[in-house]
Amino acid sequence: MERTFSIIKPDATKRNLTGAINAMIEGAGLRIVAQKRVHMTQVQAERFYAVHAERPFFGELVEFMMSEPVVVQVLEGDDAVARYRKVMGATNPAEADEGTIRKAHAESIGENSVHGSDSTENAALEIAQWFSEAESVG
Ligand code: RTP
Ligand code: MG
Repeated sequence: MERTFSIIKPDATKRNLTGAINAMIEGAGLRIVAQKRVHMTQVQAERFYAVHAERPFFGELVEFMMSEPVVVQVLEGDDAVARYRKVMGATNPAEADEGTIRKAHAESIGENSVHGSDSTENAALEIAQWFSEAESVG
């Protein structure tokens, strides 16, 4: 069993797609073991995406993540990190495979509906930013 961290992003919460996306997550064999809706502050968004601080789209990305509430989640399952990246689809929805969350719901490369950790190490760090140990119930 492995855990990964997920965010249902502002473009998706705004369009009332939390349930539709959760159905795709569960349909892919992942269990939602922690979940809460939060409205990120600038400090939280900048910390979360600190790895992208030097990229030209950083300011836009932080503004977007603060623009509406998001849903932060811990997902559990076999190969959860890779499994979720697969069901999310490519960063750019124009390149995402059929049947993926981004193909079905994302609006653009920036407003792409979901985040998923890219490694087990980052998953652990990202989970720790949003949840205490006791809040993930497998
Ligand atoms: P994420 O971290 O959100 O799961 O997405 P990802 O791994 O597929 O993509 P990453 O390269 O880590 O980029 C993080 C987020 O930054 C926004 N982005 N905008 N305007 C642009 O060219 C651009 N490129 C990336 C997206 O919201 C992307 O998910
Ligand atoms: Mg990423």
